[in-house]
Amino acid sequence: MKRVFSGVQPTSQVHIGNYIGAIKRFVEFQNDMDCFFCIVDLHSITLPQDPKKLYENSLQLAALYMAVGLDPSKVTLFLQSQVPTHSELAWLLQCNSYTGELNRMTQFKEKSQGKESITAGLYTYPVLMAADVLLYDTNYVPVGNDQKQHLELCRDIAIRFNKKYGETFVVPEPLIGKFGARIMSLDDASKKMSKSNEYEHSKINLLDTPSKIKKSIMKSVTDSESEIRFDVENKPGVSNLMVIYNTLSGMSLDDIESKYKGLGYGAFKKDLVEVVVSALEPIQSKYEKILKSGEVEKVLKEGAEKAKEVSNGILNKVKKKIGFVMF
Ligand code: AMP
Ligand code: TRP
Repeated sequence: MKRVFSGVQPTSQVHIGNYIGAIKRFVEFQNDMDCFFCIVDLHSITLPQDPKKLYENSLQLAALYMAVGLDPSKVTLFLQSQVPTHSELAWLLQCNSYTGELNRMTQFKEKSQGKESITAGLYTYPVLMAADVLLYDTNYVPVGNDQKQHLELCRDIAIRFNKKYGETFVVPEPLIGKFGARIMSLDDASKKMSKSNEYEHSKINLLDTPSKIKKSIMKSVTDSESEIRFDVENKPGVSNLMVIYNTLSGMSLDDIESKYKGLGYGAFKKDLVEVVVSALEPIQSKYEKILKSGEVEKVLKEGAEKAKEVSNGILNKVKKKIGFVMF
């Protein structure tokens, strides 16, 4: 069975960009692939985190993973910090990665821009991500477009290690969706929708109320025309809303264009509110039930055991190849 691995940071709230670009797609793999979905809390602390919030967001993300339809009897759900092999392999890979490679990472440049002090962890973050993936002999990694460069680095590290020490790692393939791999901010269609954007109407979180969703969509930027047409270059705001509509309702972009011909942005946005609210409503009600059931901790404990077992085998293979004395 092919293996799938992906991770989401328990930083702040999960938004529909995370959902459409990554988490919604995870569910599609669970029936025919061996899936590991991680809450990458070690990655979160590359930027300052409030301990109480980090704790809450971690459990919340686990409940959301289940609420969107990931079935713990089919997939392995776990917290990265519960599985020490991740930190250990990250070190071994750091000694097989180059500062020149890390200097090229655009996400590092963006996240460190304008900051006075930058942690070493933010700089080596992509190597920890490579460790996450390589520890499970992963074949496929479903992610949004912003992770493409990190996965190219992961592949480079794997190929280089295999050349130096002999076949060790499976070289993974990123799976990036054709549409929805980069959902843009609702207030500025030139920027991606991002957890770190503090303006509440720049994004829709999975746990937002219908009235908040309505406000954010009605305020979203469009353009001075009135035509609903998919044209990312000239109509980035409308095209972004159309992708959200398309991925959450299943209606094709062509059908959306013809449905709203001559109707203007107001009618389109009103219906988009309905589409988003009805896509999120079942997730939200399941989420509440899961949190109340007390199931989350048990699932994460079992997940960590399974992840330890699988990743230990691979880590030991790596250590032997490097030449460490093993008893
Ligand atoms: P993060 O919140 O950075 O941990 O991202 C979790 C997943 O969501 C990753 O696979 C990202 O590539 C994806 N993602 C983040 N922001 C967006 C966005 N605006 N559009 C589509 N996918 C996204
Ligand atoms: N870096 C990813 C992000 O910010 C999260 C992540 C960490 C990840 N480890 C991973 C994604 C392994 C896929 C595979 O979104």
